Amino acid sequence: MSWTLLILRVTTDLSPTQPSWVRPNCFFSIDDAELAWTFPDSHFDFVHIRCLLGSIKDWPALYRQAYEHMTPGGWIQHLDMDLSFISDDGTVGDDHLMAQWSKTLFDAREMTGKTFNVLTRMSRLIQDAGFEDMQQLRKEVGKWNYHYCLQGCEGWALFLLTKVLQWRIEEIQDFVANLKAALGDKKNHAYYKIGSRLCPCSTREPLPQ
Ligand SMILES: C[S@@+](CC[C@H](N)C(=O)[O-])C[C@H]1O[C@@H](n2cnc3c(N)ncnc32)[C@H](O)[C@@H]1O
Repeated sequence: MSWTLLILRVTTDLSPTQPSWVRPNCFFSIDDAELAWTFPDSHFDFVHIRCLLGSIKDWPALYRQAYEHMTPGGWIQHLDMDLSFISDDGTVGDDHLMAQWSKTLFDAREMTGKTFNVLTRMSRLIQDAGFEDMQQLRKEVGKWNYHYCLQGCEGWALFLLTKVLQWRIEEIQDFVANLKAALGDKKNHAYYKIGSRLCPCSTREPLPQ
């Protein structure tokens, strides 16, 4: 027997600035993932969470809601990053500017109650919510990530360093300029971890044959 897979993709975010160049089966809605979900129970076949580090106060509650709104046999995937620059060869040690950048932003984020520390905890938290059979995926994304950091770093720093740590704009601009120089310096063999966990809902039923 052959069957057709019909996928309707609902994408939620707090921000209204979402792309318009998406497929016709995909639409965006403005929604706070931390509030009670208004979707029916057992509604989604697949819940994908991407890069919400530093955005969520209560991760167990978010995974629990995902679990409750998942059809039997559904899957959750969460992809996130660590953001702590490290190196295997000592070119970026603890006192390197890139490591200090990570620590400064990490500490400021902790003070807001929305931690950046998600990647190392997500396996356990997803399983605590009831999912099972965890698969971990890792991928090399070096060049893409270089441009991502280059374009993003000023925005990431501005909110946290002005609002939380009360830095002056000039100090932040210096910090950002030094980070950009360090990112482009090939002597620094830095990376940070990006990982994804893919798990089925534990009340799953077999897919149709
Ligand atoms: C690093 S961006 C990632 C955007 C997108 N998920 C991606 O992977 O391209 C973090 C996003 O989380 C959104 N966000 C923050 N808190 C949220 C919340 N409570 N509910 C839904 N979205 C939230 C922000 O508006 C921002 O667009």
